[in-house]
Amino acid sequence: MNPRPKHIAIIMDGNGRWAKERGHNRLWGHIRGAKAARQIIEASSRLKIRHLTLFTFSTENWNRPKKEVNFLMSLLSRQLDRELQTLMSNNVKFRTLGNLSQLPDNIREKIKDVKEHTKNNTGLTLTFAINYSGQQELTHCFKMLAEKVLSKKLHPNDISESLINQSLPSAYQDTPELIIRTSGEYRLSNFFLWQAAYSELFFVEKYWPDFNSEDLTEIIRQYTHKERRFGFITEQLKQQEVHTPNTVTLLN
Ligand code: FPP
Repeated sequence: MNPRPKHIAIIMDGNGRWAKERGHNRLWGHIRGAKAARQIIEASSRLKIRHLTLFTFSTENWNRPKKEVNFLMSLLSRQLDRELQTLMSNNVKFRTLGNLSQLPDNIREKIKDVKEHTKNNTGLTLTFAINYSGQQELTHCFKMLAEKVLSKKLHPNDISESLINQSLPSAYQDTPELIIRTSGEYRLSNFFLWQAAYSELFFVEKYWPDFNSEDLTEIIRQYTHKERRFGFITEQLKQQEVHTPNTVTLLN
């Protein structure tokens, strides 16, 4: 059996379809999506998960109608205001991944404020991936390493998987053991392209606003019963010490 995952990442998908099927406009779906996010954050905290990453806004989401983008931004801002006390009382540290420089000033300020207030919390680390793109993150990382090579601070032979891991902005957390996507879509949509190498992927038919703490608990249960082989075979995992990508050591 696997221990409970330390890091769970979620692609929260299906708000728009959830609302449409109920005769509402898409924005209503996002409001209900934010409620679902709140429930999952609290559940993750209760379940003693170390890291939860929520894909909150992708770089591609700017292509949506302006009204929807503005609404998502104001929902984010309202959520940050409302949740600060809950984050504090649940001992949650708030972080972000993604390019914040394109966000409206007031949201950047709010994000900074929530990060500052929660920085000494020691429970769950909650990461919102905002204006995030896996390909963009990798491109920046490779550019930075190339510059170091050019300035002779780094030898090409020293570029390894582990160096890339450490050079990514997500280096403060282990890669996710579990990635969940709701709404019956089977793709990563430019999320955690590097980090997902060994993640267990769970695709759920439910739309995000319907996803709840029982669903999360059930997925964690299924995850703990999965055999994670990392290229080894079952007998090796049982008989010898094996170093896995997160440097977890499995003993028999
Ligand atoms: C996907 O639904 C969801 C998003 C675009 C972003 C996620 C945003 C939320 C859950 C609401 C805000 C949350 C927080 C934490 C502030 P979709 O619109 O792509 O749905 P569709 O595929 O049915 O159109």
